[in-house]
Amino acid sequence: MYNLLKGKRGIITGALDENSIAWKIALRAKEEGATFTLTNAPVAMRMGAIQQLAQQCGTIVIPADATVVEDIETLYRQSMEHLGGPVDFVLHSIGMSPNVRKKKDYGDLNYEWFQKTLDISALSFHKMLQVGEKLDAFNAHASVVALTYIAAQRVFPDYGDMAQAKALLESIARSYGYRLGRSKGIRVNTVSQSPTLTTAGSGVGGFDVFMDYAEKMSPLGNATALECADYVITLFSDLTRKVTMQNLFHDGGFSNVGISDAVVQGLTPPGA
Ligand SMILES: NC(=O)c1ccc[n+]([C@@H]2O[C@H](COP(=O)([O-])OP(=O)(O)OC[C@H]3O[C@@H](n4cnc5c(N)ncnc54)[C@H](O)[C@@H]3O)[C@@H](O)[C@H]2O)c1
Repeated sequence: MYNLLKGKRGIITGALDENSIAWKIALRAKEEGATFTLTNAPVAMRMGAIQQLAQQCGTIVIPADATVVEDIETLYRQSMEHLGGPVDFVLHSIGMSPNVRKKKDYGDLNYEWFQKTLDISALSFHKMLQVGEKLDAFNAHASVVALTYIAAQRVFPDYGDMAQAKALLESIARSYGYRLGRSKGIRVNTVSQSPTLTTAGSGVGGFDVFMDYAEKMSPLGNATALECADYVITLFSDLTRKVTMQNLFHDGGFSNVGISDAVVQGLTPPGA
């Protein structure tokens, strides 16, 4: 297409099946000339779909639980070996809340699960950055992107403890963006994506109705997974070298709309 990632090496987490946002990002990165490794939690390997993606992208899958530092060390070491050097981009596309999955009410959360939510969905980002820095696995001007959701800033009741996980994730991007920007010109950003029909997305209660609402609120409509992939490719490319420590909304305008004509039309006036 544009050869935006020609010669660049990377690591892509979180491709579970063809609906995954990371799946689309992997295919677009390949189209743009990048070489990269794929990774997912060992349990996700059993589903087998990721091997199919690896074949399509001409690469390998390195199993790694993103909550386990030793797994992340292996991930970077094997990636550098396979790719022939340090990486230019990393995608963090990992999220899971046992409380949301088990439909726990926000006033009745299981705290062990809450810690799991934070560990899987947010601390894993810090671990990927810390291990990458310690192993000197990033090239100068590398770009690290994590996917997030607007529930970090505004209340979406069914999003539960994932709201706190996303707030933490975005904060880690700022702290590490500062640190790695100063040392090596490395960018760290989060992309706040529209609701998207994926395994993680559809685990949130009332997701279909909510997607319809977001579609009506957004002047450009909901951003698809493929459109998210396009945007992330620009962030991995050299065209965005001075963008860092940002939470970038990729949501068709949703985040800046109070109410839209389309939503008003669906409401019943009082007394009608
Ligand atoms: N789908 C949406 O509506 C939406 C909107 C905004 C942001 N996001 C974010 O996008 C990212 C990707 O989600 P998705 O929607 O593509 O769904 P997905 O279910 O396809 O991806 C989530 C991935 O996280 C992986 N994962 C879970 N636990 C892990 C662990 N311990 N170690 C390594 N990997 C682990 C899963 O195997 C899966 O591949 C998530 O951070 C999600 O919160 C999604």
